[in-house]
Amino acid sequence: MLDTPAQLNSLYDRVRNVIPPIEWPAFTSDIESILELKEKRDAVILAHNYQTPEIFHCVADIVGDSLALARKAMEVEAGTIVLAGVHFMAETAKLLNPEKTVLIPDTRAGCSLAESITPADVRLMRERYPGVPIVTYVNTSAAVKAESDICCTSGNARAVVESLGVPRVIMIPDEYLAQNIAKETDVEIIAWKGHCEVHELFTADDIRELREAHSGVTVLAHPECPPDVVAEADFSGSTAAMSNFVETKAPGRVVLLTECSMSDNIAAAHPEVEFMRPCNLCPHMKRITLSNIRDALEQDRYEVILDPATADRARVAVERMLAV
Ligand code: 13P
Ligand code: SF4
Repeated sequence: MLDTPAQLNSLYDRVRNVIPPIEWPAFTSDIESILELKEKRDAVILAHNYQTPEIFHCVADIVGDSLALARKAMEVEAGTIVLAGVHFMAETAKLLNPEKTVLIPDTRAGCSLAESITPADVRLMRERYPGVPIVTYVNTSAAVKAESDICCTSGNARAVVESLGVPRVIMIPDEYLAQNIAKETDVEIIAWKGHCEVHELFTADDIRELREAHSGVTVLAHPECPPDVVAEADFSGSTAAMSNFVETKAPGRVVLLTECSMSDNIAAAHPEVEFMRPCNLCPHMKRITLSNIRDALEQDRYEVILDPATADRARVAVERMLAV
């Protein structure tokens, strides 16, 4: 429990650059309850980089991109994990921690990429391209992972593809990620037709207009963006790689072509950097709020339950990725 105003003030210091003082009181009661409940319940909160600043900076224990969350999920000692992110991330945490309770505060927090492919589709791809390994983006259900040879994230996709030592791979379900990685490697890539509904909205024209309007702006694009957008950007990488770019290169003016909270979370710690728009909101990530995190901890909901046989097969694909 935060028993002194000083403790609450020090939490506010983390977000004062992105949350106006008038809005802060709306968060404090939930933040206090969550911090108290975490201790009482022996729980940790894992939060993706797209979570809002009051979650990311004030109640999360572990933050990062999909790869970091998967890796760090394996090191958790607490009995309960609350995943502040989308459903496939909670499933990955559960795969890696079958004996722990994993909670997702809103079961509707899905993903257009995960929705774009079914286990039957993957079996069909295997039939159509016999012997070609299937590399599956983590943004998929456990049932789809179970049909796959190995997983990847945006942070390790090229390394995973090249680790297989074959001339051709199937890479599902993100068509744009597959096309962007194909440009970086000699391995031939057969893609699926899934898209991220957030990143597919950015256009190369957005970037050209931005450069005209704001001289010297550095443009970072997530590899889920269409290939012509990535080609027009100055840098492309996972959300962690984008964050690292801003930390190390310290651009004066930057635009992150990705989910909006990403800029807010970095801006909270870097008032000296000017973050420009556009950005797009992910409606699935935005399902997670302080109040449903509090409810998750208070009422033990919603527990991620996986079919054990599916989970065993999906775990192999995730563990192979983590070994690369
Ligand atoms: P990363 O954080 O792994 O780059 O993933 C982005 C994303 O869209 C997750 O939903
Ligand atoms: Fe899925 Fe895109 Fe939202 Fe990430 S940002 S959860 S890839 S819809």
